[in-house]
Amino acid sequence: MRKIQILPSLLAADYGRLAEEILRAEASGADALHLDMMDPNFVPNMSFGPDIVALVRRTAPAFYRNVHLMMRRPDLYVGKFAEAGAQTIQVHIEADCDIHETIRAIRSCGARPAVVINPETPVERLRPYLDEVDEILVMTVRPGHGGQKFMTQCLPKLSWLREARPEMDLMIDGGANEETVVQAADAGANQFVAGSYLFGKKDMKCAVDGLRERLARKP
Ligand code: DX5
Ligand code: ZN
Repeated sequence: MRKIQILPSLLAADYGRLAEEILRAEASGADALHLDMMDPNFVPNMSFGPDIVALVRRTAPAFYRNVHLMMRRPDLYVGKFAEAGAQTIQVHIEADCDIHETIRAIRSCGARPAVVINPETPVERLRPYLDEVDEILVMTVRPGHGGQKFMTQCLPKLSWLREARPEMDLMIDGGANEETVVQAADAGANQFVAGSYLFGKKDMKCAVDGLRERLARKP
C-alpha cells in the first residue's frame, strides 16, 4: 500500500520564531516539511529562498525537506536548492523551461524529482512526464497564498493519475483540512500538504494524528 504522508507547509509558520516552528512541525510526527519558494513572475507573491532550506537542514537535520518551486525558471535554481538540502524538488509544468531536462537535472543532483500541475492546466499535460518523476503534486488552490479554499474541481485529476499510475506518490497542496484530505484520498492522493490548518493549531501533533485517523478510517 502507498504510504500516507502529512506535510506541514512552512509558509504558514510564525516567521518571528522560524526555528521553533520547524522543530514544532518535526515534533508533530509529520512525515516531511513542505517549503514553498515563490517567484513573483510566476505567482502573485514572494516567500523565501534556499537559505531557509538550509536553515531547516541545520535546525532539524532528520526532517525530510520537500521543496515546491513556484518559479518561471526553476531550471536556473535546481542546483542551488539541492545544495541547500532540498530532498524532493517539485517543478511546475507551466514553467518556462525544458521540463524533461529539469527533471534530469534534479535527479543528477541526487534529489527526488516531482512535477506540479496548476488548477487550470489539463491533467493530460502530465502524460509526457509520468515515467520520469517519483511524485506528482496536484494543486488544489491557485498557487501563491496560504489559507485559500480547496478546489474540489481538481479532484478528477487525482483519479485520472491514480488510474494511470497505481503506484505513484500523489500529493495535494492547498486548502487541506480534516474534510478535504478525505475527499482527496478518495480520489487517489496519498500525500497531503497542510499549511494554515496545521500551523494554526496550538497542538500540531494532535492535528496530525487527527488527519491520520481520518485517513485511516476511510473504506
Ligand atoms: C500555495 C502553497 C501552499 C500553501 C498551502 O501557493 O503552495 O503550499 O502553503 O497553504 P494552505 O494549506 O493554508 O492552503
Ligand atoms: Zn506548496
